[in-house]
Amino acid sequence: ALNAIEKGLNITESDASNSSVGLGGIPDENGLVTLDACIMDHEYNCGSVSFLQNIEHPISVARKVMENTPHVMLSGKGAYDFAIKNGFQHTNLLSTESYQKWLEWKAESEKKLPKINHENHDTIAMITIDESGHIAAGCTTSGWAYKLHGRVGDSPIIGAGIYVDPDVGAACATGMGEAVIRICGTHAVVEQMRNGLSPDEACQVVIERVKKSNKDLKDLQVGFIAMNI
Ligand code: GLY
Repeated sequence: ALNAIEKGLNITESDASNSSVGLGGIPDENGLVTLDACIMDHEYNCGSVSFLQNIEHPISVARKVMENTPHVMLSGKGAYDFAIKNGFQHTNLLSTESYQKWLEWKAESEKKLPKINHENHDTIAMITIDESGHIAAGCTTSGWAYKLHGRVGDSPIIGAGIYVDPDVGAACATGMGEAVIRICGTHAVVEQMRNGLSPDEACQVVIERVKKSNKDLKDLQVGFIAMNI
């Protein structure tokens, strides 16, 4: 299950045509591509990286954090140094297209943050279950286009971007990370399944909570996926 998560997410991380994950991701306000990712297995093991730069496969670094360190999360330069020590290559992730878009945005007088919606944002999140019944989850993203330098979203936060409970199931989130973090979104979905709701029902209950906890719903997009055991 874990291998499928890692290798599956690696495909999108390397796909330069996707502008909100890994290579080709739209940069932050300073023109830097900064990445968040996390992974969790069926034994409450989890690993995460946030604010990672110049590494093509943040989900693979997150897995190494989980498997090779006593920690859950590494961030920024520490995460980068850890990746290089573990054999990952320094890579320029800013594609010519994303750089051009950033230059155009920089030249605007207002410099508004674009909406997070299906037209310009698609953080990838994945749940797998294997023949042994082991369930796992992961997600990876370059986050909100032109975000403030240093902004971290939900995708490296266990309980927000993803959550796995071996007795219940798993959930993953996409969309505006700030709205997911506020309600510990994926942990909430898993707890609803623990209380007997189906994955669909659990996601709907938590989407209602997102609606309740955000005053301005215009342009707000959040999505959950869930799987029970
Ligand atoms: N859900 C990804 C992000 O907000 O960064």
